[in-house]
Amino acid sequence: MTTKKAILKIGKSKTAHELSVYSGTEGPDAIDVTALYNESGCFTYDPGFMSTASCDSTITYIDGEKGILRYRGYDIAELAKKSNFMEVCYLLLHGELPNKKEYGLFVSEVKKYSLVHEQLQFLYRGFPRFSHPMAIMSGAFASLSAFYHDSLDIRNKEQRKLAALRMIAKTPTLAAMAYKYSIGRPFIYPRNDLDYTANFLHMLFASPSEEYVVNKVLAKAMDTIFILHADHEQNASTSTVRLAGSSGANPFACISAGIASLWGPAHGGANEAVINMLEKIGDIKNIPNFIKKAKDKNDPFRLMGFGHRVYKNYDPRASVLRDTCHSVLKELGMQNNTLLKIAVTLEEIALTDTYFIERKLYPNVDFYSGIIYKAMGIPSNLFTVLFAIARTIGWVAQWKEMIEDPKQKIGRPRQLYTGYKLRKYVPVAKRK
Ligand code: CMC
Repeated sequence: MTTKKAILKIGKSKTAHELSVYSGTEGPDAIDVTALYNESGCFTYDPGFMSTASCDSTITYIDGEKGILRYRGYDIAELAKKSNFMEVCYLLLHGELPNKKEYGLFVSEVKKYSLVHEQLQFLYRGFPRFSHPMAIMSGAFASLSAFYHDSLDIRNKEQRKLAALRMIAKTPTLAAMAYKYSIGRPFIYPRNDLDYTANFLHMLFASPSEEYVVNKVLAKAMDTIFILHADHEQNASTSTVRLAGSSGANPFACISAGIASLWGPAHGGANEAVINMLEKIGDIKNIPNFIKKAKDKNDPFRLMGFGHRVYKNYDPRASVLRDTCHSVLKELGMQNNTLLKIAVTLEEIALTDTYFIERKLYPNVDFYSGIIYKAMGIPSNLFTVLFAIARTIGWVAQWKEMIEDPKQKIGRPRQLYTGYKLRKYVPVAKRK
């Protein structure tokens, strides 16, 4: 990082505070305000982290204006086209693409840990059948810390590696179990002769009573979605994982916190909201009315799956998924499905309507992933769970980077206090 200086003067004070300005390899510079409170007695104020870099990181780079997303320097579209999810996991975790031997070893290590402790099924059986699968996922993930004592010492490199492998390997198993439990069907064990994504689809859709052959086009589409969702730098859930982990908390509990954060509709919950919206629209003839509502300032309704806080150009993940979405619909012969017709019509209108063009409201990744999942027959309350499977590697890589950073400190934001000044306690009998 190169160092420039910024000068800050506060009010009429004659003191000028000199602040270091760091440049990364790409992206905006960052002004270092860590010493500002000691020197000036002032905090910086940035609710929502609109202008704040919370850490430095070498994992993922986003340029929202240009629509760029890269993992470890590799463009997302190139990875989606040429790589696979396991290779991307290795890349995010270790910083480089694996050679053939490293890849083979990594895949077999992940497979080795794909089973979960048998006792965990009793934890699942304690949940009501109507539970939201994200609630089960968050609880089940946190419970892993109780099962795997030998990977809880975060200062031990080998234990960190073991925890990372376990988390990547067990997430699909936990997710498929959450689904099977909710529909009252038997859990399906992982199959190590299948690759990561095909194995997940098998655990999701197979039954012990008949053979289930995984559709290659659907497995490829799912693998692509996993690649696209694997990491997205310091978003809400990743920041949650980092903040929870900054206290030295155990990694399984940190990822569980990330799952809770991802669940919100403004974050990973949007793909479920897209399908709920399409079902509410119900018929192509109702679309103009919903578009009108989306444009109306006095109506809180928004088109779910459109717009993004960071991407003010086309979401690069959405460009990839758009093609995947159309090939999945073709494979399943579903081009005439009503819900999907509504989605395609909405997409066409939003891409040509001046309201959406002027505000740069393009379909985002969740718009297409929701449609693909729906077409595959996945229930909408499972969509965010699939996002969590893919994002686990991002959370794990970011957690590992933080723990291994010698500068790492517990995360402890400050506040602008706007409550009462000191008041005298009034006994209850004398209160009005
Ligand atoms: N439908 C209609 N109008 C919209 C929408 C939408 N989906 N999104 C933004 N706008 C309008 C908004 O009303 C405002 O208009 P005006 O300038 O006239 O006041 C303008 O566009 C800018 O909106 P904003 O709220 O300032 O933008 P933001 O960057 O704070 O919000 C967002 C980003 C993703 C929260 C928002 O676009 C939204 O609510 N989208 C729908 C939910 C969604 O799809 N979320 C998934 C995001 S991708 C998943 C992930 O990466 O986690």
